[in-house]
Amino acid sequence: MLVVGIDLGGTEIKAGLVDSEKGIIKKTSHPTEVEKGNKKVIENITLVALELMKGVKVQSIGIGSPGSIDRGKGIVRFSPNFPEWHDFELGENIKQNTGVEVFVENDANAFALGEWYFGKAKGLTDFIALTLGTGIGSGVVCNGLFLTGKNGLAPELGHMVVIPNGPQCGCGNRGCVEAIASAKSIAREARNLLERYPNSLVLNLAGSKEKIESKHVFDAYKQNDPLAKVVVNFAIDALAQAIGNYIHAFNPEKIIIGGGMSKAGDALFIPLKQTVNKFVMTSFANTYSIEQSLLVEDAGILGAASAALYGGRVI
Ligand code: BGC
Ligand code: NA
Ligand code: ZN
Repeated sequence: MLVVGIDLGGTEIKAGLVDSEKGIIKKTSHPTEVEKGNKKVIENITLVALELMKGVKVQSIGIGSPGSIDRGKGIVRFSPNFPEWHDFELGENIKQNTGVEVFVENDANAFALGEWYFGKAKGLTDFIALTLGTGIGSGVVCNGLFLTGKNGLAPELGHMVVIPNGPQCGCGNRGCVEAIASAKSIAREARNLLERYPNSLVLNLAGSKEKIESKHVFDAYKQNDPLAKVVVNFAIDALAQAIGNYIHAFNPEKIIIGGGMSKAGDALFIPLKQTVNKFVMTSFANTYSIEQSLLVEDAGILGAASAALYGGRVI
């Protein structure tokens, strides 16, 4: 079966023509241009979809978008890191412009489906998929069911509070794990600590304070930079505590982690695994594994395509 998968990101739309057996056949991308308004975003999505549909018959289009999605209607209700996407009617517009069925899922729910159909969760009945990027996204399969909750809003595990009254989060709350351990939060904390660590490697690696990104912080961490150690250790503690809670809630066989920040590799995964292990109840020890996603750059497209293959089911 042929479908189109569209990974709607804040800066880039990544899209692919995907065969359910063979995987990605063709890829393309386009700047999202969020700053030009929702109409322009729709135009850009339509452009990439039509390009991929040229000369082939596709069954449907899947779109993965950050935020709370009304799955039935294909509407983005609210997105913590993209306030302009409020009641954003994605599905219907793209359906009209392309003439095929459109399924919109939360980006991380789509990522979980992608891991289920094409990645490390193939054949599993219980796993959690997390994306570590600007935000922290999550998707859960439990007892063989893809969990979406009554209104299709679940799960939002990145907004689990790990520090009451902690740092401000984009969702309006304080102390969410996203507000401490997302790529955006790690970069923010590093910037905040620069005055105390003026000789930090982070600054050299980034070039200037404004250009600091989480990858600079992880690169400095690998070289034992004191500022980077403070920031990363704090983030890993928060993330590990959250993951410990997820394990207690869902008893997963695997926790699969993707998103830009997962590229930090061992620097992230080794201390993370050790710390999670400290937080879980002894009965849960050795019941789970924490693994880096192998879908890498294609995770968003394969996830969105999997949302099309899944077809917006409720169960
Ligand atoms: C949003 C989620 C999204 C995640 C990753 C979070 O801030 O609340 O809906 O999945 O970011 O984009
Ligand atoms: Na989700
Ligand atoms: Zn939050």
